[in-house]
Amino acid sequence: MSAAMPVAVITGGARGIGGTTAAILKDRGWKVHSLDRHPNPDPAIVSHICDVTSDNELHDRASEIGEIDALVTCAGINLRPDDSRAEQLKLDAWHQTLAVNLTGVMLSVRAFRPSMRSDGAIVLLSSIAALRAMPLADAYTASKGALVALTRSWSVDYGRFGIRVNCICPGPTATEMMSGVMEAFSAGQQLQLPQQRMARPEEVANLIAFLVSPEASYISGAIIPVDGGAAAHSAGMPFPKRRDNK
Ligand SMILES: NC(=O)c1ccc[n+]([C@@H]2O[C@H](COP(=O)([O-])OP(=O)(O)OC[C@H]3O[C@@H](n4cnc5c(N)ncnc54)[C@H](O)[C@@H]3O)[C@@H](O)[C@H]2O)c1
Repeated sequence: MSAAMPVAVITGGARGIGGTTAAILKDRGWKVHSLDRHPNPDPAIVSHICDVTSDNELHDRASEIGEIDALVTCAGINLRPDDSRAEQLKLDAWHQTLAVNLTGVMLSVRAFRPSMRSDGAIVLLSSIAALRAMPLADAYTASKGALVALTRSWSVDYGRFGIRVNCICPGPTATEMMSGVMEAFSAGQQLQLPQQRMARPEEVANLIAFLVSPEASYISGAIIPVDGGAAAHSAGMPFPKRRDNK
C-alpha cells in the first residue's frame, strides 16, 4: 500500500454498498475513484462514468487513474422477475446479468490489476445466493457462484505479486437493488432472516474497508458472508418467530 494516500477504485460506486464504501474509505484518508454507469450520477460521488461491460472503457479509466492499492467490484444487477428458473427466464436477462456480474468483474480485474501496487487488495461482491439456494434467479445465482470460484483462483494466481483477493457474500441489504427485488415478491411473501431485518449498506461496507486495509494483510482467498446468520440457517427447519430478548 502506498505510504501517502492509498488509492481505491470502486465499480458500481454511485450508490448502495459501493457508494457507502467510497464514503467510508474517503473518511479514512483514501483517494477514491468511483466508477459507475448510473444515468444521473452525483458528481460528488462518481468520479468516472464507466460501464464495466466495456473492456475499452475500463482500460481507458485504468490509464487515466494510474497506480492503485485497492479494487472493489460492486457493480451488479439483479433482473428479477425476468431472471427466473431456467425454463422461464428471459435469455436477454441471462446474458445481461452474466455480462455485468461476471464478465464485468473479470474485465475490471484485468484492466486494473496491472496498475496495482504490491500489497494491493481486491474485494469481489458476491452474494448469499452463492452459498445457499436463491430460488427464481438462475442468472444472478450463476454469476455470483462464479465469483466465489474466481476468488479462490485469483488469490492463488496473484498471491505472488503480494496481492490479496477476497469475496464478500452479503445477505439482503437495504439498497435500491433490494427494493427492486422485493417488488418481484408476491403479496404476503416475506424475507426470513435471523436478525429480523436486512443489513444496512455500511454493515457490508465496513468489512470491505477492513479487507483493503493493512490490518487484513494475511487474509486472502476468504469467502465471507455478511448476512446476520442467514447462511447458517439449516434449510427445512422451522424459522423462529420474532421474540423479545428474554
Ligand atoms: N443489496 C443486496 O441485497 C445485495 C445482496 C448480495 C449481494 N449484493 C451485491 O452487492 C453489489 C452492490 O449491490 P447494491 O445493493 O449496492 O446495488 P445497487 O443497485 O444499489 O448499486 C449497484 C450499482 O452498480 C451500478 N452498475 C450496474 N451495472 C453497471 C455497469 N454495467 N457498469 C457500471 N456500473 C454498473 C449501478 O448503476 C449502481 O450504482 C452488487 O454486486 C450486488 O449483486 C447486493
